[in-house]
Amino acid sequence: MEVIESKSGKIGAEIRGLDINGLADDAPELGMIRSLIYKNKLVVLRDQELDEQKYVAFARKLGRPQVYFQPQYHHPDHPEIFVSSNVPDQNGNKIGVSGTGKYWHTDCAFEKNPLSFTSVYPLIFPKMSRETSYIDMVTVLENLPADLRQYVDDKIYIHAGQLRYKVQASDIDKSLAELLDRINSEVPPVEHPAVIQHPVTGEFSLYISSGFTTKIAGLTHEENQRALTALFDFIERPEHVHTHYWEEGDLIIWDNRSVIHKASGVKPGETSKMYRVGIYDDLPFYVGIGN
Ligand SMILES: [Fe+2]
Repeated sequence: MEVIESKSGKIGAEIRGLDINGLADDAPELGMIRSLIYKNKLVVLRDQELDEQKYVAFARKLGRPQVYFQPQYHHPDHPEIFVSSNVPDQNGNKIGVSGTGKYWHTDCAFEKNPLSFTSVYPLIFPKMSRETSYIDMVTVLENLPADLRQYVDDKIYIHAGQLRYKVQASDIDKSLAELLDRINSEVPPVEHPAVIQHPVTGEFSLYISSGFTTKIAGLTHEENQRALTALFDFIERPEHVHTHYWEEGDLIIWDNRSVIHKASGVKPGETSKMYRVGIYDDLPFYVGIGN
């Protein structure tokens, strides 16, 4: 087994020569993988051969697999697997949802207790755009200019997922107002501090994203527009973006406390199918949450 950690403060670590299928429940490699996720924020396990059962079994060894709150994303036989796919199953039926997460976000930021780790294992790659992009929000916070820092220190931000809701077949004949009412009652907007402290590393990161963050509490609409536009422009600068180009057999796991991410779009006529399993480490999402 070989572990290659990115140099000079960049995110990412790569593990080669480790077959995760063979790991015992208390294998020391699991602790090593967890430590690398916290320290390097993003871990690539190369050359993995997983089916649905093996994937879920591995996720259980690493933590507590999430069952996503919207069942239309579930794999029909394994609710822990969130399916992002535009490929029908062997009977021609739709499986999962296509085109997920093509905007900067962290998974489940709109929940009171957001998801700790996200793992992704692609099965069918599009020929073009085989990448997922990440931004290290610890570094972004460290580099935040003073004029933007005033919008962040001691501020509470509001996060909501309703505008990212993907309409499904059962929504037909519902008005947009009805849909928004239902989504708002299922997943009401939540508040999190703009700056969160990691429960393991102690690092501070900026916990906002243009995908799910809608407001800074206490500002007027105009002030919000100005501040959020300036913050997102800074965060999403090309020099902050780390891009992972997928290879067959890659399993990626990242820490949603420290990075935001964005999926690439699939070009018309191309096929794409990937499995995702969210994993809770069951530590507080940030220091002080729930106090
Ligand atoms: Fe995501």
